[in-house]
Amino acid sequence: MTELQPSSELVRRLRGASHVVALTGSGISAESGIPTFRGVTGYWRRHHVEELASPEGFTRDPHLVWTWYNERWQACRAAQPNAGHFALAELEQRVPSMTVVTQNVDGLHVRAGSHTVFELHGALREAYCDRCGERAAMPDEGWPLDAIDHACGGRMRPGVVWFGEALPMQAWAGAEAAVAAADVLLIVGTSAVVYPAAGLWRAAPPSCFCVEINPEPTPISDRLNECYAAPAGIMLPRMLAALVGATP
Ligand code: OAD
Repeated sequence: MTELQPSSELVRRLRGASHVVALTGSGISAESGIPTFRGVTGYWRRHHVEELASPEGFTRDPHLVWTWYNERWQACRAAQPNAGHFALAELEQRVPSMTVVTQNVDGLHVRAGSHTVFELHGALREAYCDRCGERAAMPDEGWPLDAIDHACGGRMRPGVVWFGEALPMQAWAGAEAAVAAADVLLIVGTSAVVYPAAGLWRAAPPSCFCVEINPEPTPISDRLNECYAAPAGIMLPRMLAALVGATP
């Protein structure tokens, strides 16, 4: 069987691109050992989303919610960016302008060296007060369960977006503007079912070349120019190698 390679059209588009956008989801971090949400071993197969990722769940049981986010924080700190994250960071050096828009809260794009990263669902590295909004860095060992109550009467909560909540305005505006100016859009490792992020690709201009990298088809696959049914950690380095003319 021949190896799946980036098409000459994709390479041509990347070479001519002024602005490239990568829109990523949990699948890009799967090869770093971080579970996805809806895969067979995904978080939402083992946990109730409304208990752990909703304002109501937090009000009901802040200790349970913080315990879960502390575990995820530890897992993300222990994980390393993989070849997919690094390929996107290097792609930034090879094109005039590049933006990463991610639904991931793991911080791995930033750790891999990508500079312009919009984190649409927030980040585990921060906590904030649900009343006064004061922000705090997550301690390495996780948020202390005896320090959830904040001085103002509110409660410190994870710096992530939960179901039913609005996305951070600045990140969303930046992401929309980036996609609207994209010549190439790489949609990597997302099931494309959680809105509004799943609809962001529609902001791309008609001339934009839209590519999906995901071992599984998604609801938007047949709307895009090309789909590569391969893991991000394999396909993105191949794409980068083809762009720079190296043998993959
Ligand atoms: P999902 O778990 O819904 O989808 C992960 C996608 O990654 C699937 O389509 C997989 O086929 C694909 N995938 C798995 N391994 C891959 C690999 N090695 N390379 C490329 N793709 C791979 O995760 P998301 O789409 O990120 O939101 O989920 C979106 C949002 O739903 C999350 O941000 C989170 C969740 O509930 C909140 O918590 C607000």
